Amino acid sequence: MKKLEQIYEGKAKKVYLTDNPDYVIVEYKDDATAFNGLKKGRILGKGVVNNRVSNHLFKLLESKGIPTHYVQEISDRETIVKRVEIVPVEVIVRNIAAGSLSKRLGIAEGTRLEPVVLEFCYKNDALGDPMINDYHVYAMKLATEEEIAAIKVISLKVNEILTEYMKETGVDLVDFKLEFGRFHGKIILADEISPDTCRFWDSKTGRKLDKDRFRMDLGDVEEAYADIMKRLLG
Ligand code: TMP
Ligand code: ASP
Repeated sequence: MKKLEQIYEGKAKKVYLTDNPDYVIVEYKDDATAFNGLKKGRILGKGVVNNRVSNHLFKLLESKGIPTHYVQEISDRETIVKRVEIVPVEVIVRNIAAGSLSKRLGIAEGTRLEPVVLEFCYKNDALGDPMINDYHVYAMKLATEEEIAAIKVISLKVNEILTEYMKETGVDLVDFKLEFGRFHGKIILADEISPDTCRFWDSKTGRKLDKDRFRMDLGDVEEAYADIMKRLLG
């Protein structure tokens, strides 16, 4: 497949057209941002880790019946994915209180959330990705009721599959963010699932093995990313 011109550059990835109109190539960068781009830096090797970890998890999810955009990994940093129209709604699934939920609601970090908490954010950098609910989604015509129903079912199923899988590698899946796209009229899982978009805590020690090390200046960021890749890919 031919890599043609770049059509998009985000904070962590670039997207290129290919000679197949249904497919694009994503290229993962080492650039890291936090707090809606306020904090900027680089995590050496992050692009490789996120590409390989995300592809590994997307393949696992596909094998369990979750429809995703994954097509084929073509290099350490590049993957062919289906070209989707991104639904501008970020879905956050939370098993354990942390991050913005702990801050907003005063729930101590580490508190188990039962049932699981599902949040929506409007994907809009200029507005800082504000939290919204189903009613906002429909009033703003971001997605249909049918699409939101599918998104909720898939998100909870992804949580079940990944929670169990991560547990086997000695990692607690604290929370994560998903994005969905429309491909020939159907909702499929898109974007990435990586240490940039999840909170991973070592099950025994509680050590943070994700982007929180960068957000909170905890040090050993590269080591944490490498650790997660090693646990998942051997
Ligand atoms: P939060 O606690 O900061 O709201 O983050 C919840 C989860 O979503 C966490 O796993 C990190 C992930 N996330 C992203 O992937 N992108 C973002 O822009 C933000 C704010 C969080
Ligand atoms: N991805 C977000 C940013 O741009 C924030 C985060 O991951 O914390 O800055």
